[in-house]
Amino acid sequence: MKRFFLLLFFNVISYATFSQNAAPESSATTESIPSFNNAPEVAIIPEPVSVVKSEGHFVIPENILIAAPALPELKQAIAFLQERLSIPTGSFVSVVNTHNQAATVKLIINEKASSVLGKEGYQLSVTPSHITIRANKAAGLFYGIQSLMQLFPKEIESKEPVEEINWTAPCVEITDYPRVGWRGLMFDVARHFFTKAEVKQYIDAMVRYKYNLLHLHLTDDEGWRIEIKGYPKLTEVGAWNVKKVGEFGNFSTPGPDEPRTYGGFYTQDDIRELVQYAKERFVDIMPEIDVPGHSLAAIASYPELSCTPAAPNYRVRSGERIMDWSRGAPPTALVDNTLCPANELVYSFLDTVITQVAQLFPFDYIHMGGDEAPFNFWEKNDAIKALMQKEGLKNMHQVQGYFEKRIQKIVEAKGKKFMGWDEILDGDMPSSAAVMSWRGMKYGIDAAKKKHEVVMSPSTYAYLDYMQADVITEPKVYASLRLSKSYEFDPIPAGVDPKFIKGGQANLWTEQVYNIRQAEYMTWPRGFAIAESVWSPPEKKNWSNFFNRVEQHFKRLDIAETKYAPSVYDPIFSVSRSADKQLMIELSTEVQGLDIYYSFDNSFPDRFYPKYTEKITPPKDAATLKVITYKGKKPAGRMMVMPIEELNKRAWRK
Ligand code: ACM
Repeated sequence: MKRFFLLLFFNVISYATFSQNAAPESSATTESIPSFNNAPEVAIIPEPVSVVKSEGHFVIPENILIAAPALPELKQAIAFLQERLSIPTGSFVSVVNTHNQAATVKLIINEKASSVLGKEGYQLSVTPSHITIRANKAAGLFYGIQSLMQLFPKEIESKEPVEEINWTAPCVEITDYPRVGWRGLMFDVARHFFTKAEVKQYIDAMVRYKYNLLHLHLTDDEGWRIEIKGYPKLTEVGAWNVKKVGEFGNFSTPGPDEPRTYGGFYTQDDIRELVQYAKERFVDIMPEIDVPGHSLAAIASYPELSCTPAAPNYRVRSGERIMDWSRGAPPTALVDNTLCPANELVYSFLDTVITQVAQLFPFDYIHMGGDEAPFNFWEKNDAIKALMQKEGLKNMHQVQGYFEKRIQKIVEAKGKKFMGWDEILDGDMPSSAAVMSWRGMKYGIDAAKKKHEVVMSPSTYAYLDYMQADVITEPKVYASLRLSKSYEFDPIPAGVDPKFIKGGQANLWTEQVYNIRQAEYMTWPRGFAIAESVWSPPEKKNWSNFFNRVEQHFKRLDIAETKYAPSVYDPIFSVSRSADKQLMIELSTEVQGLDIYYSFDNSFPDRFYPKYTEKITPPKDAATLKVITYKGKKPAGRMMVMPIEELNKRAWRK
């Protein structure tokens, strides 16, 4: 994530609030979420193509027999089904690898492939006596199992036995298949390192919502996270920085004595293990090596890779300011964090890196970054000037284009396809370069028109690092993206030939994400919205129906102990000024059916406090507006503690 937009800083002081945000372990406890009045019995995310409900229920028996084909690629899916059907329920589950008419759960690979279902579709039939999942391929059975889980009570997610539950699923006939083949989540493991176990945990959560692609952002200014044989300093030096907490981007520059012990990397064996783990769950891992910008960790390890090797004392970034964005993109680098396109060493370095990456990751594509490269150090470099003259390059975009084309050749020489962020288009790339569109949809549309393959991951809908609600409760980032906006994502915009759109993806940049619990908080529920946008038919998307299901899934995540953001329940503040310059505060909510209560007297409002009905003006000396939403008699959102001074500032800024 980065700063394509001019930064919008909010001068908000930190408050000790009464909100759940103040207590990390209580992100969204069961108590905090209102009970549903009309919970739908079938609440699958992403919404299937077709669901036909019939009378009756299947009841999980004490002894369950699963009949499934003996395919190695199904082993994990069956183990998962077996685990879920036994641990919470206490039932005994056995598996046979032959067709068995009497089996309770039958997993069947179609002898004659159904043209409707494709590679990932499935048919799920639940009757009072049996469950049958049919698919053309193992992946379809895996997704059928995910939908089946969502038909059982939420306690099916429990890691322990749960008593007194009616272990039933409604009888249904479901036919389902994805809208697009590329359904991705990007996880930035460079800004903050996440362990192998944490990456697996992330994969476990994403597959429940039928994502099939994990894009690992493996290198950046803050860390190089993959062992490369022959370049040991990449991980001896490049994987470590100084641990800092607070507001990333504005940390003090670390002193020479501060220990560089924060970080980590994946050995090549770790990578093989992750690739295998993902594969067993029908997820491909796409590696990203982000060059020529975002390369400070590589340069701190091998300064000769930059255009200015002799000048500075390079250090892996620890969140201090290294870029000036005040004039927009491209930024001005305060420290040269770019690889030098005029240096042949860079190409032999990248040849080695790409050779090893290509061998480690079986996925067809290697993402080579290409975003936000600053040009100011290149502009003053003699070797770059000579290169421009020799190659007839007229400007720095063409210099970057020269670099990207050489890298593309290396990637293709290893039998892989080249992908880059949409800035690569500025360098006039051949249509064989695949493009990931992040600066909105526009660049993806342009690229598709030029016959590039495109993955849509626009910051406008799919940037999971953006704040989900007001900066007063969310960790501060320069932009916001609410759940309802994410839900509007359509990876295939009108006016483009869909054959060039490979799919869509949400991106979790982790500058402000210090741990896996926060990574989950940022991913869910917006990850539900993107999952539905890339899987479900667009005509089946419906915000209020979706949100009903989201509420059900909050309860599932509670039981699975996966964190999520309850921000969608928080009130929204809008401000204006009356004709006589009085501050006017408007409160609203993102979802229907919530009441808003407030106080100006510093006490914590509940539903016996004034209920918001129309714009309010604070009493003359009030310092704080406290607001909370309720659903009926139960608190829904978190207690928002908003200084009047902050609202005044916002009103003056308008
Ligand atoms: C990006 O967010 N700079 C790809």
